[in-house]
Amino acid sequence: MNHKQALVNPIFEVVAQAAEELGFDCYVIGGFVRDYLLDRGTPKDIDIVTVGSGIALAKKVASKLKGKPKVSVFKNFGTAMIKNETIELEFVGARKESYHRDSRKPVVEDGTLEDDQKRRDFTINALAISLNKSDYGNILDPFDGVADLKAKIIRTPLEPSITYSDDPLRMMRAIRFATQLEFTIDQESLQAITKNKERIKIISKERIVDELHKIIESIQPSIGFALLHKTGLLPFILPELVALQGIEEIEGQRHKDNFWHTLEVVDNICETTDDLWLRWAALLHDIGKAPTKKFDKKLGWTFHGHEFVGSKMVYKLFKRLRMPLNDKMKFVQKMVRMSSRPIIISEDFTTDSAVRRLVFDAGDHIEDLMTLCEADITTKNPKKQKKYKNNFKIVRQKIREVEERDHVRNFQPPVSGEEIMKTFNIKPSKEIGIIKEAIKEAILEGEIPNEYEAAKLIMFDKGKELGLKIRK
Ligand code: CTP
Repeated sequence: MNHKQALVNPIFEVVAQAAEELGFDCYVIGGFVRDYLLDRGTPKDIDIVTVGSGIALAKKVASKLKGKPKVSVFKNFGTAMIKNETIELEFVGARKESYHRDSRKPVVEDGTLEDDQKRRDFTINALAISLNKSDYGNILDPFDGVADLKAKIIRTPLEPSITYSDDPLRMMRAIRFATQLEFTIDQESLQAITKNKERIKIISKERIVDELHKIIESIQPSIGFALLHKTGLLPFILPELVALQGIEEIEGQRHKDNFWHTLEVVDNICETTDDLWLRWAALLHDIGKAPTKKFDKKLGWTFHGHEFVGSKMVYKLFKRLRMPLNDKMKFVQKMVRMSSRPIIISEDFTTDSAVRRLVFDAGDHIEDLMTLCEADITTKNPKKQKKYKNNFKIVRQKIREVEERDHVRNFQPPVSGEEIMKTFNIKPSKEIGIIKEAIKEAILEGEIPNEYEAAKLIMFDKGKELGLKIRK
């Protein structure tokens, strides 16, 4: 079958023309072909393989394009890249060696198209479409990638252990594609991954995290985490999650398996948010439970302070994986640290002040926190499920009410430090902090409304208590 319709982008004509002038055969290969056949939309990255010099072809193509875009050349790898406004074109010469962008191995030997295809990761990524005049638009599929696409199978073109030892990151890529595309990993591949799992240690953290992000960004990340677990890769990547696995029983009391529970929470949250970091928070929200787990004769299983311990663990985990230690990490920490607060309120609606404090502490992240807590409901008991969901609805309603009335979400002290200094004729000192704190506390406790006049009275009272004199 001909697939000219995959090549509607005029860029392909330009590439074909340039290759012809140089006397090279050339093909579009990899993710572009896969995603076209899967109808996943047209990818921004286009990989071109040529039986000739990838660098020479890239230069020729650039010379034919409007605005003569810059060609980035990676001489060691024999690759070159052109960035157009919307697309990124990557050129590589067909080779006998394994192909991957981050390989440190320089190119040694040129090869045929088929040589190149068989050193790629999966049959579904080894598909090529010809850009040559004689068979323009034809699919070249020596490893039955099209059949694997139809059967939804991730399979390596070569014996799996060869493909995975060429680049152990491919073990994670297999799992990532299985998650993203909802494909099954071929049994032999799965065995090879399990056998070679330790080799993941030689892969840079950055590349591992890229794959993790893609798993987490999928519709159902649990597929990927279950596979990471099954193959034994997970302990090398996120041992904190592995530690959550298992159910213990003492005196007939059991706790839930927090690993499988966590995966359910992640899948749940993916139904309501695309935010990568909120999804990370769901993944990590219970990690403090492993080190804090205790059995108490009266209370049963407890995980006291797991939220705080968990938020500390987030920092270490991000650092170990070389993830950014920035506001994104702080956000994840905050979600983990506060993850039980709405639950406590939902169980006992005694005071508005707890709601006010929750809104005050969560600030602009209150919505995200509620989303996390709602995703945390994984009970299989429909009655309980309904009850918990309804309770959170009430919490959301209370949050709205309190917010309308008291505006504590982005709390601004109604009396400024300057006014306190003027009132008591004092210089910057700790007394100002004490007075401000007293005003804030009175508002959060609901003793006074969040208003200037009421706050001023608290200022006078507290000032008096501190022995300060009002300036006449
Ligand atoms: N490839 C490989 N081994 C790797 C990485 C990549 O064989 N470790 C090959 C595959 O043929 C792949 C192509 O290089 O299709 C391009 O790689 P990349 O852009 O990383 O992945 P895509 O398949 O394009 O998919 P995605 O964009 O979803 O990552």
